[in-house]
Amino acid sequence: MKTVTLGKRLSAIAALVSGERLIDVGSDHGKLPCFLLQTGKIQSAVLTDINPLPLEKAKNKAASLGLLQKTSFYLANGLDLPENVLSACDTVVIAGMGGELIAEILSSENRRFLADKQLILQPMSKPEDLRAALDRLGYDIKGETVLFENGKYCVIVEAVFTDKPCQTDIYTGKLNPGDPAARDYITKRLHSAEKSLLNLKNAAGDVTSAVKQLKAARDSYKAFLEVKDENK
Ligand SMILES: C[S@@+](CC[C@H](N)C(=O)[O-])C[C@H]1O[C@@H](n2cnc3c(N)ncnc32)[C@H](O)[C@@H]1O
Repeated sequence: MKTVTLGKRLSAIAALVSGERLIDVGSDHGKLPCFLLQTGKIQSAVLTDINPLPLEKAKNKAASLGLLQKTSFYLANGLDLPENVLSACDTVVIAGMGGELIAEILSSENRRFLADKQLILQPMSKPEDLRAALDRLGYDIKGETVLFENGKYCVIVEAVFTDKPCQTDIYTGKLNPGDPAARDYITKRLHSAEKSLLNLKNAAGDVTSAVKQLKAARDSYKAFLEVKDENK
């Protein structure tokens, strides 16, 4: 029997999964749910995608691994899934998409069916937009990690729908200041914010709002780096 192997990013997501019934939104290749089923960490998985071709690919993978009995497949936009499917799951993963797209998916009215479920979100860009949306939409951030893979930092956010704002710093979220990878990542973001601020000094037009945002980001990054242990 072939076994699925995962890279660093998907391995880190797999390690966080605590429930036995998973929904993988935007599953594409389907590697994550297939790995979790093969290793016995989950009992069943719903694989979704907005595009038919990736969904077909995921189905073929599950079939080739003998996992069809434990999997179901939905061609669907985000959380636009039947209520009983959402209610029956323990963990929802939305990974490998931009932060704005994940935020848009989480804005669905169907989020009310996700109360108390484990949400694992992995934005490939703009984590600050995702955090701002989580706050606005009533999700609480339980924890965050960051890792470096293929020349890119990947943030992983664990959240839960509570229907209350979470009031987290949108630039640093729940990253741990005691984690060297998080410190490296925030240091890089600080340098990038400082560089952008310098560039804006000579920019034409009204840059007031961009400067305000960059200064807020810079101040959050500096405050994060001043904390040496995880109790920030
Ligand atoms: C880059 S792949 C990520 C695959 C996998 N989740 C991972 O992390 O490796 C993104 C997938 O999300 C799908 N997708 C994009 N927007 C979506 C949406 N609104 N709802 C469901 N799937 C979506 C795309 O078709 C694509 O297959």
